[in-house]
Amino acid sequence: MIIAIDGPAAAGKGTLATRLAARLGLPYLDTGLLYRAIGRTMADAGADLDDPEAAGLFARALRPEHLSGDLRGRESGELASRVAVHPPVREALVAFQRDFAARPEGAVLDGRDIGTVICPDADVKLFVTASAEVRARRRTDELAAKGRAVDYERILAEVRERDERDSSRAAAPLKPAPDAVLLDTSALGIDEAFEAAVRIVETAA
Ligand code: C5P
Repeated sequence: MIIAIDGPAAAGKGTLATRLAARLGLPYLDTGLLYRAIGRTMADAGADLDDPEAAGLFARALRPEHLSGDLRGRESGELASRVAVHPPVREALVAFQRDFAARPEGAVLDGRDIGTVICPDADVKLFVTASAEVRARRRTDELAAKGRAVDYERILAEVRERDERDSSRAAAPLKPAPDAVLLDTSALGIDEAFEAAVRIVETAA
């Protein structure tokens, strides 16, 4: 079974994907990590992230060792969304993601274009959303729990900016596949959201 999970930044996709994969015994690929690693590697090399050809070269040179280290932070997310607009970057990552999804047991993948571009024939497509305010609040609380003082308004502005860039780009913009099931987690706790996702998977599979 292939489960495709898409949605905007900080909607809870990663947590839901991790828990679904564990429940179903499926391998999980966090595709955002690929874009984060490319952005990070380019920034570390002092390369121009806005140059599509240069970004394509880095994407084709991506190796598993680039996926380690701290890629989950806000800065890497921002770098990722800048390189993710370039078609040569997206094209370089297609085969790896499709091969991952083609494992005999199936897979769970999360990202922005899994249901629309990478796995249009996925058995289950979930589009996980929450209002920008709720996502910014969750992110602020997460960071505060780690002892980081952050300003909610600033996080909200970052969330909106990333939504705008991911949704308005020409190449594989963030949007629900026509056959995706929408899961709005604005008013749900993580356990409730997970139970809702499990029900969607059981219904669709
Ligand atoms: O999901 P995550 O926040 O790690 O993704 C970081 C950025 O990578 C996104 O904002 C988006 O621009 C890009 N991305 C993408 N397509 C994917 C996964 C991530 O464009 N499948």
